[in-house]
Amino acid sequence: MKEKIVNLLSSNIDELDNDQVRELLEQPPKPELGDYAFPCFRLAKVMRKAPQMIAAEISEKIEKPDFVERIEVQGAYINFFLAKDMFAKEVITKSINDDFGSFEIGKDKTICIDYSSPNVAKNFHVGHLRTTVIGNSLYKIFSKLGYNVERINHLGDWGTQFGKLIVAYKNWGNEEAVKEKGIEELMRLYVLFHDEADKDSSLEDEARAWFHKMEIGDEEALKIWKWFFDISLEEFKRTYKLMNMEFDHFTGESFYRDMTDDVVKELEEHGLLTESDGAKIVDLSEYDMAPCLILKNDGSSIYATRDIAAVEYRKKTYNFSKCLYVTGQEQKLHFSQVFKVMELLGNEWAKDSLIHIPYGLVSLGGEKLSTRGGNVIYAEDILKEAISKIKEIIDEKNPDLSAEEKEEAAKIVGVGSVIFNDLYNQRIKDVSFKWEHITSFEGETGPYVQYTYARCSSILRNIEGFKPSTDIDYSVLSDASSVDLLKEIDRFPNVILEAADRYEPSVVARYAVDLAQAFNRFYTENRIAVDDENIRNTRCTVTYITRRILKDSLDLLGIGCVERM
Ligand code: ARG
Repeated sequence: MKEKIVNLLSSNIDELDNDQVRELLEQPPKPELGDYAFPCFRLAKVMRKAPQMIAAEISEKIEKPDFVERIEVQGAYINFFLAKDMFAKEVITKSINDDFGSFEIGKDKTICIDYSSPNVAKNFHVGHLRTTVIGNSLYKIFSKLGYNVERINHLGDWGTQFGKLIVAYKNWGNEEAVKEKGIEELMRLYVLFHDEADKDSSLEDEARAWFHKMEIGDEEALKIWKWFFDISLEEFKRTYKLMNMEFDHFTGESFYRDMTDDVVKELEEHGLLTESDGAKIVDLSEYDMAPCLILKNDGSSIYATRDIAAVEYRKKTYNFSKCLYVTGQEQKLHFSQVFKVMELLGNEWAKDSLIHIPYGLVSLGGEKLSTRGGNVIYAEDILKEAISKIKEIIDEKNPDLSAEEKEEAAKIVGVGSVIFNDLYNQRIKDVSFKWEHITSFEGETGPYVQYTYARCSSILRNIEGFKPSTDIDYSVLSDASSVDLLKEIDRFPNVILEAADRYEPSVVARYAVDLAQAFNRFYTENRIAVDDENIRNTRCTVTYITRRILKDSLDLLGIGCVERM
């Protein structure tokens, strides 16, 4: 509908195109001001006339189509009042189908998303939780647009730190402790290494030697490394399982270890490598960037070298149209360097198809979060705590549920509450962590949206023999709260497009709250389970559609739904 109004206006205004009109078109706060309002202030500048006069002239010119009930000029505004029943019919006819909001824009195109990517032998912390949920949501959003998406977990599983870990393990570790405590013990050993190396610098040399052994394929070195890798991945997978998230590839940095020699050769052939203090770098001063380090002075490759190898491998293997990297903003320089090097290697495509998607910090405020050894916070513990907090609320709110149902609901709503909190704010902003807000069933929260979904389910469950239909009485939907709800429903496809365009899941999260609020107003103001079959069927159909879009929206965020909570 909005698009139709946009078209109507722009075909009557020579000075503005569709995009400009769309940007100006408003949704007035009060029904007396119509459903859409077009302000003429901007035009006044271009046309050098009073805005009131322009509004009058344009409205005169417009031939009123059937879907508009009337057009009124009020001051500098042209207000459009939709023909409510036609509007309702149009929205319901398209949104009743399950594929409402699905597109084929991405057909035959591949997008790689590099996200989550925790570091082996380190805890999966709150920062990794953000990349995980943002990346997973982008995967859902682009899939909905019809893209083939490759979900890539670029684990931090290679580098000198593993040399250190091997030294520490050999000196102060033992098999049982690692088996029993996993990452926690590996982290203890790592910290211990640094304490000891402060006193005895020969340990650093030993560590370098062990990493060198790893790089040349030494059996013992690789065996210990692989063991640490397996233990870590198992723990990470536990967190992914809790969040119901999957990856297509667990190809971490080690996956590219045999490809870095070729990267060095290629850079050399292009005359890009220069020496600096025994290390090899790509000078990027011409582009106002610090140099990109490729080989350390001991000849070992680093993070950037493996990232360059990874881009080449992915381009060759998946022929992506875009490759997205979701990490904290502190890696901005790293990715600018890697992308620039790719460009300098003659890859035109690198310019617009390699995209860094940064995000802000999680600020814990004064929250007490459960910690394990060394005061370290694990994402898994946060999720578990959310589940138990939600369980308490559900126990109280809905004692009739079976133990199993409560368990299931607490898990989905608890995990969802943390994900939602993470995705509700623009990704570049810091998110604050406040239990009281996150797990609340009111306000802009995951549980609120999920609760609204369960409410829709319960309404429909209690009406016997209801089937959604377009053969309903549209005049029933002319009150303000119904029209508002239909407008929200109508917005869904554009919300997905905007979220994809800006790589911004918060657009979907905010929409989900808007839709839930619109439904709750509709529900307060209209009785649904009335005797009159016409009215009942009409309102139930709207409830049915709202329910499905709430579910789809939550799914786009990587959050599940429950029928009762
Ligand atoms: N492991 C890194 C970290 O924890 C993130 C890796 C991001 N992806 C990449 N291709 N560099 O910070």
